[in-house]
Amino acid sequence: MKDQAERLRLMAKSLKTRIENDLVRGMKHTRVVVVTSGKGGVGKTNLALNLALALAESGLRIVLLDADMGLANVDIILGLAPKYNLYHVIRGEKGIKEIILHGPCGLEIIPGGSGIQELANLPEEALQAVIRDLGRLDGEYDLMIIDTGAGISNSVLSYVTAADDIVVVTTPEPTSLTDAYGIIKAASNRQARGAVYIVVNRVETETEGILVAQKLISVGERFLGVEMKLLGCLVEDRAVEVAVKNQQPFLVSHPNSQVSRNVRDIARKLHDKSGGDKVPVKASGLRSFFRNLTSFLR
Ligand SMILES: Nc1ncnc2c1ncn2[C@@H]1O[C@H](COP(=O)(O)OP(=O)(O)O)[C@@H](O)[C@H]1O
Ligand SMILES: [Mg+2]
Repeated sequence: MKDQAERLRLMAKSLKTRIENDLVRGMKHTRVVVVTSGKGGVGKTNLALNLALALAESGLRIVLLDADMGLANVDIILGLAPKYNLYHVIRGEKGIKEIILHGPCGLEIIPGGSGIQELANLPEEALQAVIRDLGRLDGEYDLMIIDTGAGISNSVLSYVTAADDIVVVTTPEPTSLTDAYGIIKAASNRQARGAVYIVVNRVETETEGILVAQKLISVGERFLGVEMKLLGCLVEDRAVEVAVKNQQPFLVSHPNSQVSRNVRDIARKLHDKSGGDKVPVKASGLRSFFRNLTSFLR
């Protein structure tokens, strides 16, 4: 009799925990982190991919949206040859789940292709259907990382303006820094609501990176009133070039290299800043992200 009561009590307790977990999961939106830069070739794609992998490695559910229409894309670094991309989803030929690729560490990848630009030209009804389809992914991932192209195009700025977090990549070169300032200024003019984070890539020493970031952060605060935080630095490392040539993410091919350690630090910091495991994440979710993105593109 006593045993039975105890068993019932345990069953009720486990049911309660399960319902609570489901509720938390159901309420949790996917947070959108956009990786961008002013100048091209500063390491956005490598950072976006390896950061996504480092976050996935730590047990988070991550999807990487490849929205860079340039040449060196995520699929190339991963040695994948996607047959379909967002273009096919937007044309109604494929559902979003049918185009998702599976990478290392459970990372999922959405090849963008020329898809997103098409969104802006869709008639209202078709647009709503696509947003409903994309919105189905909301809550299925903790974070969506977006790799964008460089520069101040309307398309890149639309992603930046709609994101929860904006990661601006720069190198210590003055031209890269001025262009980084340019994109932050453009984002601020558009009233981007995301938190702005700086990553300094290709540094010789961490001190160099911190000094470079401090310069950018103080100029941004003084002239734009934009608050920025340094997310971290990545050293100049041959491992990056070798990994790209072998079509592998450096985190996979050179897991113990300095640059891989740098990426893991950045992943940890980004996760902590976005609330970590404890505090419910303040994100507006993928439906609202794609709705805003489309209205900005138009
Ligand atoms: N930390 C680094 N150390 C050495 N080389 C790097 C580093 N980051 C980037 N590179 C080099 O720069 C190239 C361009 O990087 P990529 O991520 O494609 O830039 P983006 O996406 O900004 O155009 C890489 O193929 C690599 O050769
Ligand atoms: Mg790129």
